[in-house]
Amino acid sequence: MSDNGNRKDWTQLWLEYEGGAGLKDEWEALLRVDLSGFEHDNRVVKSALDELKRAVLLLAGKEQEITAGKEGACLVICRAEDIAAQGFRVRKEGEALILEAPDENGLLYGIFHLIFSARLGKDPGKACGIFEPDAPLRMLNHWDNMDGGIERGYSGRSFFFKDDRFLGSERIRDYVRIVSSVGINGVVINNVNVKDAASWLVTERYYGDLARVGGIFADYGIKLFISINFAAPIELGGLPSADPMDGKVIAWWQETTDRLYDAVPYLGGFLVKADSEGRPGPFTYGRTQADGANMLARCVKPHGGCILWRCFVYNCTQDWRDKKTDRARAGYDNFIDLDGKFDDNVILQIKNGPMDFQIREPVSPLIGGMAKTNQMLEVQIAQEYTGQQIDLCYLIPMFREVLTFKTYCTENGKDTVSDIVCGRAFGNRRSGMCGMTAVCNTGDDACWTGDDLAAANLYGFGRLCFDNSLSPEEIAKEWIGLTFRLGEKNSEKLLEMLLESREVYEKYSAPLGIGWMVNPNFHYGPSVDGYEYSRWGTYHRADHLGLGVDRTDSGTGYVRQYHEPNASMYNNPGTCPQELLLFFHHLPYTFLLPSGKTLIQHIYDTHFEGAQRVLEMQKAWDEMEGEVDRDVFLRVKERFERQRVNAFEWCDQVNSYFYRKSGIPDEAGREIY
Ligand code: GCU
Repeated sequence: MSDNGNRKDWTQLWLEYEGGAGLKDEWEALLRVDLSGFEHDNRVVKSALDELKRAVLLLAGKEQEITAGKEGACLVICRAEDIAAQGFRVRKEGEALILEAPDENGLLYGIFHLIFSARLGKDPGKACGIFEPDAPLRMLNHWDNMDGGIERGYSGRSFFFKDDRFLGSERIRDYVRIVSSVGINGVVINNVNVKDAASWLVTERYYGDLARVGGIFADYGIKLFISINFAAPIELGGLPSADPMDGKVIAWWQETTDRLYDAVPYLGGFLVKADSEGRPGPFTYGRTQADGANMLARCVKPHGGCILWRCFVYNCTQDWRDKKTDRARAGYDNFIDLDGKFDDNVILQIKNGPMDFQIREPVSPLIGGMAKTNQMLEVQIAQEYTGQQIDLCYLIPMFREVLTFKTYCTENGKDTVSDIVCGRAFGNRRSGMCGMTAVCNTGDDACWTGDDLAAANLYGFGRLCFDNSLSPEEIAKEWIGLTFRLGEKNSEKLLEMLLESREVYEKYSAPLGIGWMVNPNFHYGPSVDGYEYSRWGTYHRADHLGLGVDRTDSGTGYVRQYHEPNASMYNNPGTCPQELLLFFHHLPYTFLLPSGKTLIQHIYDTHFEGAQRVLEMQKAWDEMEGEVDRDVFLRVKERFERQRVNAFEWCDQVNSYFYRKSGIPDEAGREIY
């Protein structure tokens, strides 16, 4: 936990350079830098050069030299306009390495790429190539409250706020270095549920702090965003309404925004959760989501800002007896008719699935449902429903699945989720009004992410945003290589653990896409009926004959929100992918799955297997003792023990529940209670 000799209470994650293999001779070029075409005193250029200097010092134990002109083994940095925004190119010319970029962000990412390549022991030739970001906006959303708590936070308290004040800069600066090293270029610092002090973030009370933090972000090419309270004109402005069509409300927002931008010039814009889970919004005034979003978009437009408008809008006071209303339908139903009605600086932020970050959901049909609206994918690396950074759950395989899902939204073949959110499907790439965002998993824990191994999701999310084609395996390998100093055998073992962890979690928790079955509110550990008779629209509909939600043509009709052939594929249990069967169908326990097993036997088998696999992972980790830093080893060991208890609890509760409902015994005669 040291940084250049200074002890800190937190690690540098994958930017921890000490104790490594040093800098190999092939990378001698990094010791001498020639910079042309970029201003030396540009803030991002300065940060990039500082990063290289620091790396060279810590890796090679040498001071870096600045040269003028190319000579021998040196790094030549120059500008090139034929590369996409924020991208870079690396070439070799004799002994020299050439790094070209069209802008400062590209330069910064290029420097990190070189540092990482050197640290991973790659040959410089293998680090050459052209690297252009896929997602124009690559963002993190913090659900930090200004009192210091973090909604769905599993890594300690906020490092942005405490007691309604901003915290100091040191940790924020390290955070910014860490996330920019994987290409993050936008960060929302406060919770989407904006209440209390956070409502005042748009006022002069926090101008100074926002300007300071915005400046730290700007040093590393990151735009600062804040979440706002749609009812602020009432709560702060003393107006009787927050109606987006009311002239006084519009004037209040315009003035508030103008003053804010004068004081905080680096602001990217606002994130808004409206008409969702009790938060205020345009529906109160009989207005549409577009009316609300556009009003704000026009206020930030003169300042070059944008509005990130969330689509997590659904009825959270549902009656469980009502089988017609389907929460999964809500996002699409609330937004589809508004396609083309949003201003060009509004981006709809859509969760990857139609429900809420479960371990398995289909892709939200709203993504690609609209063809004339900017869209951004929202995922959650905070493991709210996927083990809360106690259970190991490497989520990059899930995000890759989402990105490669073919929506059939265009006829030109550019129709995957990746095509949509990277601007290739609907031609909004140049405007940059699309991208990916993740609900962040960091806090003020020494290791940042509660479980040291959960940092793989932070690293992986950034890398995947930048390059949608990277495989979860490549990403995990990089992260392991940059974070640990493991021998080949243990690197392989850890890789295997990460890669199968999502499937393992899925096996011992809720089966075949049905989701939920978690302890209400808290969302860790099993409670099969916990949400079954609730108002949240989250049901499994199990009885003594079968289980699952009928979302077919004869059920809630949700399947029709997909383009063909997806709609027909999901509609038929014979063609619906096995892992999503219970999301789309209510099936008897005796239903024969493609695997040849009955539904009930599948539930028993996967639950026993999942829990068993956790024991093996636990053992594999124990065997790494001595090869992993002692503190890290012990912290992770403790997590695996908690995961073991959790996995067996899930296994026993789920199996017992369905055995008792169905009366069908396990073919293998294992213990069920
Ligand atoms: C989930 C989560 C909430 C959060 C909400 C959101 O429902 O449990 O804490 O506020 O998502 O995404 O807005």
